[in-house]
Amino acid sequence: MTKLWGGRFEKHPEEWVDEFGASIGFDQKLAVVDITGSLAHAKMLLQCGILSIEEHSLIQTGLLVLKERAEKQQLEFKTEYEDIHLNIEKLLIDEIGPLGGKLHTARSRNDQVATDLHLHVKEETLSTISHISSLQATLLELAKSNVETILPGYTHLQRAQPVSFAHHVMAYFWMLQRDKERFSDSLKRTDMSPLGAGALAGTTFPIDRNLTKEELGFSKVYPNSLDAVSDRDFAIEYCSNAAITMMHLSRFCEELILWSSQEFQFVEISDSYSTGSSMMPQKKNPDMAELIRGKSGRVYGSLVHLLTVMKGLPLAYNKDMQEDKEPVFDTIETIKGCLSIFNGMMKEIKINDIKMMEAVRKDYSNATELADYLAKKGMPFREAHEVTGKIVFACIQKGIYLLDVPLDEYRSYSMLFEEDVYHDLLPETAVEKRNSEGGTGFEAVQSQLALAEETLFEL
Ligand code: ARG
Repeated sequence: MTKLWGGRFEKHPEEWVDEFGASIGFDQKLAVVDITGSLAHAKMLLQCGILSIEEHSLIQTGLLVLKERAEKQQLEFKTEYEDIHLNIEKLLIDEIGPLGGKLHTARSRNDQVATDLHLHVKEETLSTISHISSLQATLLELAKSNVETILPGYTHLQRAQPVSFAHHVMAYFWMLQRDKERFSDSLKRTDMSPLGAGALAGTTFPIDRNLTKEELGFSKVYPNSLDAVSDRDFAIEYCSNAAITMMHLSRFCEELILWSSQEFQFVEISDSYSTGSSMMPQKKNPDMAELIRGKSGRVYGSLVHLLTVMKGLPLAYNKDMQEDKEPVFDTIETIKGCLSIFNGMMKEIKINDIKMMEAVRKDYSNATELADYLAKKGMPFREAHEVTGKIVFACIQKGIYLLDVPLDEYRSYSMLFEEDVYHDLLPETAVEKRNSEGGTGFEAVQSQLALAEETLFEL
């Protein structure tokens, strides 16, 4: 088997060495973008007088035939040709003859692979952003119909203060909004053309890098050829943005898993997103939520993989960089899959507002209301906190809640207590009134929802 780069070699590598070095098993995912890059390169070679009109026309026709086949996944790749770039070049030569070999003028696989990866990550970043938007739209709908649904709010996983369910869901909406902003910001650095950097040092051919940049829809060209071929920051950024998004999904999944347990029963995950047990007939397990939580580990792994591959590399290209693709591809597939499944799961989730309300009625999460009541009547807050603490302690001893304490007993702690204290102690009141900006009060949540509506499709 003659290698496309075989000229200076006396011996062919052994088959198993070939196999070890080949990336075609996974970089064939880049087939279409690779041909798109080649079409742009060929056009530029024509415009710069490096290819004649006839040569260009033949090369272009051949590439378009291959592109159509690539889109239908009908191209046949061979391990002997190592990677997607050499496989496509070989297929072009088979299609149009030795002229196909002219396409590689003023180009190296080093700027070619970087171009392919930029095109791929750019396209996938946009697609990831739209997956996030769809999930946000679902969360927004869920929130809108649950402004007055009340559940316990926690700190340290201990009951803290009651909150609106909409408020809780919207916390995730805003995390996802920041995730989107991060993806969108990193797009600036992905949207750059390395093409024309050559192997590392540029070329003596009179090329025009702006032509290929325009043709491929990139916003800028890399100003330095060494940087152009050896930069993988944009891929690392994608993985890092994805890792943060996965961390958010994982936290939400953790809550759904807890909330769907017998102990909480705050939500019911639809049968379509759950599984049973092969032994225990009563089981309904929140598998999809667990799996998404688990897949965050896989995405973090890819980020660390990529950072580690890059950390010791001298300029410019090194074969180590072939190890960049699998973590990026896997991350893209994983995060998009997780976002879709999570979205579907949230569309079908049932909210058990009665259980949530029962929970807040049987706790001391209205203790802050009691302290605030006294503070509003003039008692210094620190003192009000102390008095309330004593009342809570006495209630715990007796096994009753704050709403069960008779007024004369309240008045034995402070004469500031009056009949209206019971109104303040209702969980509904506690939530409803917290209308400071960004608070869980019903009005504050309504303005938050309006803001979310405006923000949702900004990106
Ligand atoms: N398959 C290689 C990769 O994925 C393409 C670039 C190879 N360049 C080279 N000079 N060996 O990184």
